[in-house]
Amino acid sequence: MPGSSRNVLLVLSICALLGSACSKIYERCELAKELRDRLRVPAEQLATWVCIAEHESRYNTSIIGTLAQGKDHGIFQISDLYWCETGDDGGACGIDCNSLLDDDIRDDYVCARRIYRAHQGLQGNGFRAWAVYQPHCSAGQAANEAKYTNDCFGQDSSRVEEPVQRIQVDQQPGALTLYFTGFGYPYYTYQNIFS
Ligand SMILES: *[C@@H]1O[C@H](CO)[C@@H](O)[C@H](O)[C@H]1NC(C)=O
Repeated sequence: MPGSSRNVLLVLSICALLGSACSKIYERCELAKELRDRLRVPAEQLATWVCIAEHESRYNTSIIGTLAQGKDHGIFQISDLYWCETGDDGGACGIDCNSLLDDDIRDDYVCARRIYRAHQGLQGNGFRAWAVYQPHCSAGQAANEAKYTNDCFGQDSSRVEEPVQRIQVDQQPGALTLYFTGFGYPYYTYQNIFS
């Protein structure tokens, strides 16, 4: 095995073991694309989530914010007062706060969406759960899109309809490849090699 692939594998397994050791600083549009294409953030909320990430964490997935009470974790600065528990799965999201610090923001978004839904009921606008929302992200969808996402997508920026997820299973000897396609192009590929 060439040295560089070995190093990549080593880094990957260290990340898997330590989790929080692997932080990531997103580019704004990189985050917008990941939220839209991998995490399926609704089109009308996308720019607001990007705005919240910018003002909460400057897109740094490993930020811990220290407040008078409790700490906030990760790209969406999720609070350990209620939503996560440090050192063990817990809180209303049933998650270890440390797992909100790694480079995989899926669990962050899943928890953030839960927070959003709770505050939608409590305050009529789920984004109000984030202190940065009112001063920085409440100007409305069009204003947020102009500032945070419009330059990120080319022709396909208007996602008119809910994408239909087609799953195509391509079985070859020793390999199983699942292609998930939405919006008419492949956006995510899993590849598992069974040897
Ligand atoms: C991201 O946050 C971590 C943890 O606070 C910090 O060590 C690192 O320097 C930050 N990265 C940038 C580019 O600010």
